[in-house]
Amino acid sequence: DTATLRKYDSDYLWHPFTQMSEWEGADNPVITHGEGSYLIDSDGNRYLDGVAALWTNVHGHCKKEINEAIKEQVDRLEHSTLLGLTNDRAALLAKRLVDIAPSGLCKVFYSDNGSTAVEIGVKMAFQYQMQQGKPGKTKFIAFDNAYHGDTVGSMSVGGIDIYHATYKPLLFPTIKAPSTYCYRCSLCEARDPKRCGMECLKELERLMEEHAPELAGLVIEPAVQGAGGMIVQPEGYLKKVRELCDRYDVLMVADEVAVGFGRTGAMFACAKAGITPDIMALSKGISAGYLPLAATLTTRKVYDAFWGEYAELKTFFHGHTFTGNPIACAAALANLDLFESERLLENLVPKIAYLKERLQGLLALPHVGDVRHEGMIGGIELVRDRESRDPYPWEERVGVRVCLEARKHGLFLRPLGNVIVVFPPLSISMDELKILMDGIEKSIVAITGE
Ligand code: LLP
Repeated sequence: DTATLRKYDSDYLWHPFTQMSEWEGADNPVITHGEGSYLIDSDGNRYLDGVAALWTNVHGHCKKEINEAIKEQVDRLEHSTLLGLTNDRAALLAKRLVDIAPSGLCKVFYSDNGSTAVEIGVKMAFQYQMQQGKPGKTKFIAFDNAYHGDTVGSMSVGGIDIYHATYKPLLFPTIKAPSTYCYRCSLCEARDPKRCGMECLKELERLMEEHAPELAGLVIEPAVQGAGGMIVQPEGYLKKVRELCDRYDVLMVADEVAVGFGRTGAMFACAKAGITPDIMALSKGISAGYLPLAATLTTRKVYDAFWGEYAELKTFFHGHTFTGNPIACAAALANLDLFESERLLENLVPKIAYLKERLQGLLALPHVGDVRHEGMIGGIELVRDRESRDPYPWEERVGVRVCLEARKHGLFLRPLGNVIVVFPPLSISMDELKILMDGIEKSIVAITGE
């Protein structure tokens, strides 16, 4: 029963990104079932999943077609290895990924989570430069407010102090470029995306020019900096970044772990912006949110730099045990089939328009300072004072309180500081999206006032 499950959880589990002194003993729901856009707990309570199981879920929970693909695969082969062997699912999926990826990305390197997908990209870019005979190109451009995962390498290219500052002595140094955080921009007076002169881009260009001879790569979350607070990039920004990377001979590593697989309304954010990165990291939505799977895609140019006789030691010496796991790949193949058979991207159009309208509407509330929107992603930044943009002190945990309030309306949400995140399964219905936005609005009003 629920009490026993909660006791075992409290007694034995250590939860991620969680202050356990607040967790233990609290009445946390124990999720036992999933159904479409809903999660269901051991007492039968239903929660509309507003954050798509930490930004992963695409077609809803317990989607029949994916469940069946997994069951079928389990009965055939659960795992072998890609170290010295291949398997049918991994090969089929690699082909499908290349078919849908921005043109020019033609090789797929698997791993099993977003952090490793990025870290592989970083190692690839570094070794590429070495093997191009450019041993001076060892450094990376990273961004303020960036988040690429929690392993030491992916933290190194991150830029969120509350997560990363503690580990600073462990991390490799990077060259830090400004975030596109218009609402709190320190580089331009307007602090308004509509009147943005992209000063941040000028600063990036200055840094790249200054450091070009020592730069191996640039690591960026295209379209939206997720964990940084759903910070949206201005129109045209990514294309300029691509141009700068070309001009200064810097490999562009695009982290599409959060925005890939339809989240921006296009299959990939880079394709939407009309660019191809040199390296692209994918995870989360790749398996429709079902199983740990990740892929790092790259171009012929990068791949060829690793080609040679064994004794030249140009091999990419990297590989995780569960690389190319056939069950995860089978789920990913079923995921891609559903994108087509359900016309998922087409069906997003009205949902994206509705989400945009509802987010704009929230600006009428006195403590909503900024709303940010890209595809099926929304960020609602709550502020103590709208005029001065003075934030709520983080200790007040206004975001957490709004999300707990939302439970009363049958929603599961998880904030990023004072930013309320909207990130539902892409399959959410219009009715459910309305329920989600109504509940968010009511919860913001209940905690911050009208
Ligand atoms: N890259 C991006 C753009 C991501 O958003 C994430 C995870 C990763 C990489 C790492 O993927 P992983 O290794 O976890 O599979 N800490 C925040 C939210 C983290 C969001 C997860 N994103 C929180 O406490 O809510």
